[in-house]
Formats: sequence, structure tokens, C-alpha cells
Amino acid sequence: TQIDAFDMVLFGGTGDLVMRKLLPALYHQHQDGNLPAEGRIVCLGRSVPDTAAYVAKAHAKAKDYLGSHYNDADWTAFAARIEYLKIDANKPEEFGLLADALNEFPKRARVFYLSTAPDLFAPISKSLAGVGLTKGNARVVLEKPLGHDLESSNKINDEVGEYFEEHQIYRIDHYLGKEPVLNLITLRFANTLLEPLWRREWIRDVQITVTEQVGVETRADFYDKTGALRDMIQNHLLQLLTIVAMEPPASYDADAVRDEKLKVLRALKPLTVEDVHTKVVRGQYRAGAVGGQPVPGYLNEPDVPADSKTETFVALKAEIQTWRWAGVPFFLRTGKRLQERMAEIVINFREAPHSIFGKMGTPNRLVIQLQPDESMRLYVTAKEPGNQLRLRPVHLDLDFKETFKTRSPEAYERLLMDVIRGDLSLFVRRDEQRAAWKWVEPIIDTWEASPDAPKAYTAGTWGPAASSALLSRDGLCWHEES
Ligand code: BG6
Repeated sequence: TQIDAFDMVLFGGTGDLVMRKLLPALYHQHQDGNLPAEGRIVCLGRSVPDTAAYVAKAHAKAKDYLGSHYNDADWTAFAARIEYLKIDANKPEEFGLLADALNEFPKRARVFYLSTAPDLFAPISKSLAGVGLTKGNARVVLEKPLGHDLESSNKINDEVGEYFEEHQIYRIDHYLGKEPVLNLITLRFANTLLEPLWRREWIRDVQITVTEQVGVETRADFYDKTGALRDMIQNHLLQLLTIVAMEPPASYDADAVRDEKLKVLRALKPLTVEDVHTKVVRGQYRAGAVGGQPVPGYLNEPDVPADSKTETFVALKAEIQTWRWAGVPFFLRTGKRLQERMAEIVINFREAPHSIFGKMGTPNRLVIQLQPDESMRLYVTAKEPGNQLRLRPVHLDLDFKETFKTRSPEAYERLLMDVIRGDLSLFVRRDEQRAAWKWVEPIIDTWEASPDAPKAYTAGTWGPAASSALLSRDGLCWHEES
């Protein structure tokens, strides 16, 4: 689709997300020639005096993050799109300045990207409405976390909903913009091969893992109040689960897709207190070594209270109560300070019903890797060459970089372009978000009421022993253990 002239307004303009992800993403799209000539990036902040100082700051950071993609000529042309306005998002009286800047071009698509703490979402929306900026082709992008539980997220959504209509609200979950995730949708719905097998009769279990090597970094202030369940499971991992499990939508229309995702979230089997104790593992890292470097434990990280019970690891077993998925466990796992940085979706197929070879082959497995490499790998059993009948698992590989020989855009690039274009398909609708919070709520409540501390795990491992036990109880194991 043709992209029209736009003004992209970045609240929290001097923050980490803008500097590290959003500006580099827009630079890439500019460099690839995907942005129309008329497209401004209006950055707001308090700490920098003017555009020249802002661009200088952004330049230094962008150079770091862009690596070999950076070049002076492209940067200079890109930076000409940037305008900085010194506006305090807490002060409605300063929004007139923004209105003046935007009203120079009244016909442009207007995107307000709120890369701020969620408690500012409502006041900012109100101030935008106050200066007449929420009407027409205005869109607002909300970054996670959208609240810290069902109630607070409802409140934010209600408040923002007073000023923007649902079709103007883009709740971003950057995992939905990752290329392999989009390819999973394509694999499932542009091919016939897998659909007959994509169900309980043929799939034994599904594993969705997002592990990180980094610890809490400098974000203790945010992270200690949040924890892995709210930071990763409620959004990124549950969203991945919906993509794996949804029924084929009737079209690629935003609501057709989101209706199907919602049905999955609503079909998740509710967790009882007993389930939380037996099917959800909550961990916290202790000192250890990651990638050969010694690292401190979570409780010794700067700004983390010494008695913190915040989880840095979660593994859980989810079940989906539908004809397609009844009885198929979906194991989700995420954590910080683990052995590797890795994100993958593993579909384990059932064993052959009978072996004519004496020994069973290894069951088929489809692995969609999101990180560090982007690939799809289908494991099948093959015979080794030679006189003997020796069976061995081998894989058919699709490496996206190799195959397409082009740069794979970062998640934010794709999603920012979707907002400018006005395509909501890859953004989370309000009812989806609500269903996801509702499902994790018993976990939050049970942990809060429990005197138990999270299970300790040594940094640089795959998490607490209970994580492996969660699967071994079902006679299964995590991908890397098999
Ligand atoms: C963010 C979380 O949403 O996702 C971070 O707040 C996490 O804690 C990050 O590190 C992981 O994203 P990615 O794309 O680097 O896997």
C-alpha cells in the first residue's frame, strides 16, 4: 500500500526505546526508500534544549545501534525529518506548541507514539484532545506495560478510550512484528501441508521459549515492580501462543485475525490456586556465570531490594480447551540470565504409531526460531548411508537470510510502517489484552498470597530444576534437553 505523508510524534523522545529502537527503525525504512518525502518525526522531551542538540544526541546513539548500516549521507537526509519540541508531557498548557507544529500540515496521518510510563497515557491523550489533535486520521500507539493487572489495564484503556476510538489505538507488542512470526502465519495459512496435522491428533506438545542472557540491567526500578510474568508472558508469549493456536481467519483483515486470536485466549483453561502451585514455575537468578563472565544474583543488582520476591523466570503449562487442542500442553518459558539468548517455537509431533524398524525414529519436530537466527527447521528421521539400517534425525532447513538474501527488518520497522499505513492486524485489540490479563491474574494473586519465595537458579543455566520437572511429569522434556 502507498504510504501517505505523515507526522510521527514520539513522546519520551530522549528515552531508551526511541533512541535504541524507534529512530533506528525509521532510519532503516528511510534508507530503504520506504518513507514518503513528506514525513516528519517530531520528538518530544524535556531534557534537551533544541533540535540541533537532539539530533546530535540521536546521532551518537544511532551510530552505535546501526553498525554497518550507518552512513553519513543517509543519516543527514534522515535527520532532516527530525524536529524536536521541548514539551513536558505532564503540562497540558505546553501542548499548544505541538498543535501549532502539526497544524502546518493538517492533512497528514498523525501518529502519537507514547513511549512513556503508562500512567501518562491518559493525561497525554486528554491534553492532545484539549488542543484538537485526536480527531480525523490521528492514531495513538501504546507501549507495554499497559497497567500491571486486569483492573489497572482496564482503567488505562477506559481513559484513553475517552479520547481515541478503538480503531485509532495501536497497542504494540513487538513480538508480533518479528519476521519469523509473520512467516509462521504464512506457513500455516498459505500452505496446505501442515493444516491437517496442526491439531491434537498429530501434535504432542508445543514449547514457546524466550530466554535472555542479560539480567535486569539498569531497569530495576521498572523491573522489580513488574517481573517476568507481566513483562513477557502476559504479552509476548501469550501472543505467540495465539498465532500458533488460532483457527484460520477468513481473511487477513485486522479484525478477522484478532477475532481468532481472542478465541484462543478465551479458551485457555483457567488456572486454579492448585494449578499455579503445580503448573507454574517462578524463579529468580542467583550469582553465576553467563557466557564465561561472572554475574551477580538478582538480589545484589543495583536498586533491587534485598528481600525482593520478583520473578526473573517463569515456566508454565497452558491448555487450550477446544476440539483442536484439548489435551495438548503448551509450555511457555522465559527468563533473564539464562544460558543462551534464544527465542523459538517448537512443535513436537507424535511418535509413529508403530515401528517397522525395531527401534522408533525420533518424532518429527518443527522449530521456528526467532532469535538469534531467523529460521524454520523441520526434523525428520532419515537413514544413514551404508549397508546398515541406521536411523537418525536430520533437518530440512529454511534460513531466511540465506534464502531471501535481504536484510530482515527489525520488528519495530514493520510495526511503525503499519501504524503509518493504518493497518491494525498486528496490534493487540482491547478484548485480547483483557483476556490475557484475566488468564494471568490467578498467577499474580496466588503468588502475592503465598509466603514462598521464587525458586533460585544459578545465572547461566536454563532455570530452576522445577522447570524440567514440569515437563518430565508428562514424560516430556524441553527442546534443548532432548
Ligand atoms: C521487552 C521486555 O518487552 O522485551 C524486556 O520489557 C525484554 O525485558 C525484551 O528484554 C525482549 O525483546 P527482544 O526483542 O530483545 O527479544
